[in-house]
Amino acid sequence: MLRISAFRLLGRTGASRLSLLEDFSLRHYSSDPLGVRDDTRDARAYFTTPIFYVNAAPHIGHLYSALLADALCRHHRLRVPSAAATRFSTGTDEHGLKIQQAAAAAGLAPSELCDRVSAQFQQLFREADISSTDFIRTTEARHRMAVQHFWGVLEARGLLYKGLYEGWYCASDECFLPEAKVTRQPGPSGDLCPVSLESGHPVSWTKEENYIFRLSQFREPLQRWLRGDPQAITPEPFHHAVLQWLEEELPDLSVSRRSSHLHWGIPVPGDDSQTIYVWLDALVNYLTVIGYPNAEFKSWWPTTSHIIGKDILKFHAIYWPALLLGAGMSPPHRIYVHSHWTVCGQKMSKSLGNVVDPRTCLDRYTVDGFRYFLLRQGVPNWDCDYYGEKVVKLLDSELAFALGGLLNRCTANRINPSGTYPAFCTACFPSEPGLVGPSGRAQAEDYALVSAVATLPKQVADHYDNFQIYKALEAVSSCVRQTNGFVQRHAPWKLNWESPVDAPWLGTVLHVALECLRVFGTLLQPVTPSLADKLLSRLGVSATERGLGELHFLPRFYGHPCPFEGRRLGPETGVLFPRLDQSRAWLVKAHKT
Ligand code: MSP
Repeated sequence: MLRISAFRLLGRTGASRLSLLEDFSLRHYSSDPLGVRDDTRDARAYFTTPIFYVNAAPHIGHLYSALLADALCRHHRLRVPSAAATRFSTGTDEHGLKIQQAAAAAGLAPSELCDRVSAQFQQLFREADISSTDFIRTTEARHRMAVQHFWGVLEARGLLYKGLYEGWYCASDECFLPEAKVTRQPGPSGDLCPVSLESGHPVSWTKEENYIFRLSQFREPLQRWLRGDPQAITPEPFHHAVLQWLEEELPDLSVSRRSSHLHWGIPVPGDDSQTIYVWLDALVNYLTVIGYPNAEFKSWWPTTSHIIGKDILKFHAIYWPALLLGAGMSPPHRIYVHSHWTVCGQKMSKSLGNVVDPRTCLDRYTVDGFRYFLLRQGVPNWDCDYYGEKVVKLLDSELAFALGGLLNRCTANRINPSGTYPAFCTACFPSEPGLVGPSGRAQAEDYALVSAVATLPKQVADHYDNFQIYKALEAVSSCVRQTNGFVQRHAPWKLNWESPVDAPWLGTVLHVALECLRVFGTLLQPVTPSLADKLLSRLGVSATERGLGELHFLPRFYGHPCPFEGRRLGPETGVLFPRLDQSRAWLVKAHKT
């Protein structure tokens, strides 16, 4: 006899999985029905994006960083509904040589450039539905105070000294480079110019007396931290890469520049001839946001998750934790690392003229559509290539046809004339296939569907924990396909509400499909908030029934009452997601007439 339980489905692999899912049908009605909450989930959580340079307008790579953080944060809110428990910061990185030079090149005062571009980031994030709770600009007075205080702590702890720094500096990447990381490439005039081996950006030789941070003292503490917490940096290959870097000697780090060379920054306290290194300045933003140096910051630190691109891993996984340890604080809880978007196989750059404007994409593909595309296609471990055709194909097939079509099939007046959540008939679909009696209509594939959707929230939560949001979306999409197969198999349009034989089964088919849709809508909220809202509203799911704690899938199947049975569907009957190829054809037509 086939017993449908998540336990069976996943097999007896690994004690922790087992304990979470063993008695699924009972857990389903416990205070943590999906086993997606753990101790850390009950604690506060603080998510951060990198703060963005204001030397140029935002592009889709920047939006991607912010979207990943937004989706993680929104998923956390679904697990721990109390809004007070979550904080999410983003902002702009406005000091440093790069900005100073960009302003000079644009003939603007640095503050003008900062105001202009920071406003563009703020507007983009508003339009893209980024649910940040804080936006920080490093030119704010609160930040200058926090940075200078942090500097004072490092100084008081004997971690800063004055010394001669001589070496390469890359203004575009705002970093110092050893000789081994510099190569020569022909410049515009054909002469060989020194450039960073990694980024290809020009570097220049610098020789100055600066303040130096005793970074070398922190090699072993950093190794201990990373070896003791294998998930500190996720995905694993990035964790491994940082440990590899730490195998090599860790030189001390110059943390200031001569003010005559770099004036656009925060002065070293008590020494106006020096400006604080922009990366030290920028990293402290994560503390400024939570009120540092006032004691209130301690309730948010170190329950912090930094979301960053792979190019800034060294700064976040070596410099930042070392600075924090130096200041007597703990390293961040998690560093989630993602790879980059390329365009038609090439790195995005202003000079190549291939920068993709995210606002045009939001307009063209809709906010939820473009959010879905970036998060469904972006893989943290590898770079991804962007081209428009791919967006249309994906959104049409997964959102317009598969999900929108499924909703339409189960709610259309023709098939569901009462406009309600129909009743589930246990005789037609008993909780175990062995119990199927004369009125039983469910088949083995239907039980497989119920199992797949029952375990989906846990699967999705695991993918979020591993920073594999695209896998979470892949899993949802696969269940949407399976549900469409279920509807297709039982063809409710061929069943008759008037027939006493057909009616209970017809109601059951629609009930199961609507329950699946309720799970999909709930799980899609972090990625496509408006579309999910539309879907859940159409199903009549109220605002207080949309958290993971409330997601009791198909309760009647497990012998429990279902609050949705008999409930009126929401009044909004419009298209869930517009077909893009069609709307583009319509646009072209409209243009011609
Ligand atoms: N200002 C620093 C971060 C300081 S955080 C204390 C910085 N800014 S940035 O504007 O250059 O980059 C911000 C984020 O955008 C980084 O996470 C970076 O990886 C990401 N991306 C920049 N280009 C990208 C792509 N082409 N694709 C994906 N993400 C990209 O670094």
